[in-house]
Amino acid sequence: PKELGLADDYPKSRAASQVRSKSRARSEVSIDDFDVGDTLGEGSYSTVLQATARKTGKQYAIKVLDKTHLARKNKTFTAKIERLALIRLGRQHPGIVSLYWTFQDAHSLYFVLDLAANGEMQTLISRLGSLSTRCARYYTAQIVDIVEYMHSKGVIHRDLKPENLLLDASYRLKIADFGTAKVLNADVETERFVGTAQYVAPELVVANESSESSDLWALGCVLFQMISGRFAFSGLSEYLTLQKVKQAEYVFPGEFDEDAKDLVQKLLIRDPKQRLGAGEPMSPLDMRSLRSHPFFDSIDWTTLWTDPAPPLE
Ligand code: ADE
Repeated sequence: PKELGLADDYPKSRAASQVRSKSRARSEVSIDDFDVGDTLGEGSYSTVLQATARKTGKQYAIKVLDKTHLARKNKTFTAKIERLALIRLGRQHPGIVSLYWTFQDAHSLYFVLDLAANGEMQTLISRLGSLSTRCARYYTAQIVDIVEYMHSKGVIHRDLKPENLLLDASYRLKIADFGTAKVLNADVETERFVGTAQYVAPELVVANESSESSDLWALGCVLFQMISGRFAFSGLSEYLTLQKVKQAEYVFPGEFDEDAKDLVQKLLIRDPKQRLGAGEPMSPLDMRSLRSHPFFDSIDWTTLWTDPAPPLE
């Protein structure tokens, strides 16, 4: 299939044919170009299928969204935002699922994405109970690297959680699910949103305000969960969970790496401006302070995406 819709990524030599084919582009790729395999996951508005491109044999994940269902639930804009965010992010960061093509037919919207062969981090945590400090450090470092890149492109994810952290064939992270992202300086409405109770930052609960720093809160929640195997914030109902979030009320288990604990404590802070990595008020995020936290002392940031992942334990 021929690429479409991602004009920014086109090599210069193909610019002319790109212009010529632009009006036809939408119909050039279709689901018939793929052999569709197993279902990889199901969300509230989408199904993700494993697929192989017939021409090249390359494997992808195809996210299929039902148009009628989206329209009925007023969620059509989430598909627009996801496409916009993925195009904005491009295909240069290894930790973000790349978008190759989008197309539609009478019933569905399709997003052809990188396949993350080892599924969700959530499944891994459930299977192992919790992750070793070493594994948690590695994955936290990858999230930091991805989040810094994302924010540099003006994309705030707003729903970082282990279900959206996918693992590729080499057990490196790939972040997915940008349907609830906030895309800065975009023409689409991306404001109305509250994330997942266990990971949502207090400023979103209290004032429906989100900023880059909301992703840092979620990072703290994810690190806590990877090491302890349980949510940092969890009540018997969503309401009770959100009450705890608002107070930043959480308790560490007896055993928890000291450096990791210090990092979590510097991320799970009510005031978004005070979180580690949030920089000075009104200045861009200062992720350097996050990268230089002692928890990451043994991390080589230059080989983070080429080193093999640590053994799962
Ligand atoms: N589930 C959701 N998105 C996926 C992807 N890109 N690869 C594998 N499983 C997924």
